[in-house]
Amino acid sequence: MSDIQFVISEQLEELALAAQLIDGRDDNAHPLDHQVFFDSRAVILAKTLEGEIVGCAAIKAGKGTVDKGTVGELGYLVVSPYYRRQGIAQGLTQKRIEVAKALGISILYATIRAENTSSQANLLKAGFQFWRDYLSIRGTGNTVGWYYLALSANVDAEAIMLSLVGDRIQAV
Ligand SMILES: CC(C)(COP(=O)(O)OP(=O)(O)OC[C@H]1O[C@@H](n2cnc3c(N)ncnc32)[C@H](O)[C@@H]1OP(=O)(O)O)[C@@H](O)C(=O)NCCC(=O)NCCS
Repeated sequence: MSDIQFVISEQLEELALAAQLIDGRDDNAHPLDHQVFFDSRAVILAKTLEGEIVGCAAIKAGKGTVDKGTVGELGYLVVSPYYRRQGIAQGLTQKRIEVAKALGISILYATIRAENTSSQANLLKAGFQFWRDYLSIRGTGNTVGWYYLALSANVDAEAIMLSLVGDRIQAV
């Protein structure tokens, strides 16, 4: 782990390699929209000393009516299968928290499929709180967990999370 570096990247060639890593994801994520990924507010790469990209994660661009300045959504987390269980996802998430603070973001949130226990563990370890389960907006019947991390003391997490879930149906 000590020989892995966590760096912000804005270089198109590197971002294209990171997109390949996401495309190869072994969980059944939805196909990646490369342009949306490239438009992320910040993309963090995990690189070996040789410069190989072995993981990536992003603070997404944000959409809809929520305050894009102070609310940040995490996404696009993937670690190469050959490099897992070495703390790289945790390093990527810690770095995203650091970058979010620097960007003036006051609350981070993430949505995780109920069966993705490794990703949930990764968020909880980084200090995130589980908020609630909702049914997927895609109508697939999948349960999706919503998580948040307040980065400033006076943030009304409940109100922000309610505005983010919109009219999704809470899973019971
Ligand atoms: C999820 C993923 C990014 C984790 O990457 P990773 O670098 O192996 O994770 P870390 O080594 O930082 O693990 C952090 C913690 O998460 C948990 N964790 C990670 N992988 C786990 C697994 N397979 N099963 C259970 N817990 C797991 C553990 O608590 C781990 O800490 P530990 O190793 O001290 O027990 C990686 O498995 C992956 O790329 N999966 C496919 C893509 C994906 O699911 N992305 C997230 C979509 S929301």
